[in-house]
Amino acid sequence: MGEKLRDTFGRTFPYIRLSITDVCNFKCGYCLPNGYFKPNNHPGFLNISEIENLVNGLSDLGVSKIRVTGGEPTVRKDFFDVMKLIKSKSGIKKLVVTTNGYKLNQLTDKFLDTGVDGINISIDTLNRSKFKEITGHDRLPEILEGIKILQDKGFKNIKVNAVLLRDINDNQEEFDAWSEFINQNDISFRYIELMQTGDNLDYFKKYHQSAKVFREYIETKGWKNVDRALDDGPALNYKNENLKGQFGVIAPYSKDFCKTCNRLRITAKGELRLCLFGNTGTDLRKYLQDPKQKDELVDLILTQLRFKKESHYLELGNTGITPHLASVGG
Ligand code: 5AD
Ligand code: SF4
Repeated sequence: MGEKLRDTFGRTFPYIRLSITDVCNFKCGYCLPNGYFKPNNHPGFLNISEIENLVNGLSDLGVSKIRVTGGEPTVRKDFFDVMKLIKSKSGIKKLVVTTNGYKLNQLTDKFLDTGVDGINISIDTLNRSKFKEITGHDRLPEILEGIKILQDKGFKNIKVNAVLLRDINDNQEEFDAWSEFINQNDISFRYIELMQTGDNLDYFKKYHQSAKVFREYIETKGWKNVDRALDDGPALNYKNENLKGQFGVIAPYSKDFCKTCNRLRITAKGELRLCLFGNTGTDLRKYLQDPKQKDELVDLILTQLRFKKESHYLELGNTGITPHLASVGG
């Protein structure tokens, strides 16, 4: 089953990142520096019945893992209903979510109630004032409290992601702070290299930093790469025998990054995106209106997958049609 979604380079796609809204309440400098503005003629985001038809089709295609993303997915009023709906589908073995965690301290029970299997939280720094500068919101304490509550309730699968930013969070003090944090909390933390998108060229030029600086830091501190197979997606992961937790690096500009691609994306308006930085999106929405359209939906996705390219060609400055990652779910 899981082999149905296979591209011309032999990669399979058991994993879908599904955005359920472009809206975000944060203003991260690299993503939505002026906040989210609703464009005119907005068709609205997929409603819960469209999402159900979509997930049924994806299940038929052997998809077993769905990550719900945004924008910020929890701003949707029916966020928890959407999560429960997806979790109720027997083909979906893993339901995970990426959130900025802005109300996490108030929402932990509701999160746990959905049966979610993993929560990724975006925190670019543990320094409160820097956090406020990057995101435009002084929410770090609530987010950290949320993590603590989740852990006290025994929820294990929390990952924290940060975007690595030159002269902001690329120094030893920041790295040491994360090292201590993951050791205390037994958490996995990953730096993502800043990616250029259609809207952020100036920001990118100013703040892009190679993940090499972090890799060098962790290697001198005794962290060892632990990746065995190519099946876990494009992150490099490291463990340290003296410390708890795990470090990771996501370096989209590195050679061979795309070789381990195992995910497709679906935007909040129901477009299939074969790559974060592709030039095309395929409208699936017309086939999400009635459960009876499932075969057409499945055929369209299979046909489109033949067009998936080998690499994102980002190193050529090719950002495709992606203005910012809030539009494609990170
Ligand atoms: N480059 C790298 N990461 C980004 N994110 C958002 N925009 C970018 C970008 N241009 C990150 C967020 C979050 C995840 C969903 O994507 O910070 O961790
Ligand atoms: Fe919001 Fe995430 Fe974009 Fe920050 S990176 S503005 S939290 S969607």
